[in-house]
Amino acid sequence: MAIIVPLSASLRSSLASSPPFLRIAKLTSAACAHRLRCYGSSTAFQLQQQEEGKNQVRSPDLVALEYADLNLPHKLSEELGHVRIRQHVNPLSSSFSMPAQAPNWEEVLEDPTLPLMVDIGCGSGRFLMWLAKANPTGNYLGLEIRQKLAKRAQCWVKELGLKNIHFLFANATVSFKHIISTYPGPLVLVSILCPDPHFKKKYHKRRVVQKPLVDSILDSLAPGGKVFIQSDVLEVAVDMRNLFDERCDLLQHVDSIDPTISCNVDGWLLKNPMDIRTEREIHAEFEGANIYRRLYQKNLV
Ligand SMILES: C[S@@+](CC[C@H](N)C(=O)[O-])C[C@H]1O[C@@H](n2cnc3c(N)ncnc32)[C@H](O)[C@@H]1O
Repeated sequence: MAIIVPLSASLRSSLASSPPFLRIAKLTSAACAHRLRCYGSSTAFQLQQQEEGKNQVRSPDLVALEYADLNLPHKLSEELGHVRIRQHVNPLSSSFSMPAQAPNWEEVLEDPTLPLMVDIGCGSGRFLMWLAKANPTGNYLGLEIRQKLAKRAQCWVKELGLKNIHFLFANATVSFKHIISTYPGPLVLVSILCPDPHFKKKYHKRRVVQKPLVDSILDSLAPGGKVFIQSDVLEVAVDMRNLFDERCDLLQHVDSIDPTISCNVDGWLLKNPMDIRTEREIHAEFEGANIYRRLYQKNLV
């Protein structure tokens, strides 16, 4: 761990006039004195709090536990350096209006004819990597508008040696239809999980689920293919649900097809159908929030 030692003016001038071996000795003794001052300023109360904190479960620990099977390397790939990620971006800004290029599927997937699942707004990508690792007979594509997240996820894919998953930096609103139209196999599942809520009314148009994207998903989905949506924000979940419910010409909610799947009285799924939770879902449930879920199936004919 690097220790940052504040250099006083007198220490700086004394270092400048010293031979190299003395500079090292003076810096070492300044570092020791600084460390002592820092420890000395920790009160007993702070130390006790730190000690108690060690025993508390935090939601990032639950995330690590959920994805433990992935065995993701702790160190980030060197080519990425330290990843600092902006909290939100504005998908309507001109910098995100250029459509992303579709990948050369033969280059990025071992067998690009396998059934494909697409996760729109995949965040860190761990959820999708877990699924890809558990289901080698399918392909997985994560679309993410925050470039650093997509890049880091793709580095992890490389390090894990997974051949059935790919992450793309893309604004799904602009690029979904074109990217999927070039995929050689069938699109069997699209998920949009805990999308950014953009709470203020004037920002609702930034939400990723809008009618044109819903129509593109339905056009691209194979017969019998599914759409899974969820949110921890009821208003956002209702908004998405209304848009997909409107397409009852092509879609049915799964509880009307499969009697083993049940919903509560308001029509939300009782259980997560994926066997794995997303990161946002883990954090939200940890804070006591409900998750509102719907799973639709496209008609067979
Ligand atoms: C709240 S996070 C949820 C991430 C993940 N699905 C989860 O449940 O943990 C929403 C993600 O969607 C991404 N996103 C928002 N708008 C997008 C768009 N138009 N296209 C692609 N990704 C988008 C955000 O950058 C963010 O990573």
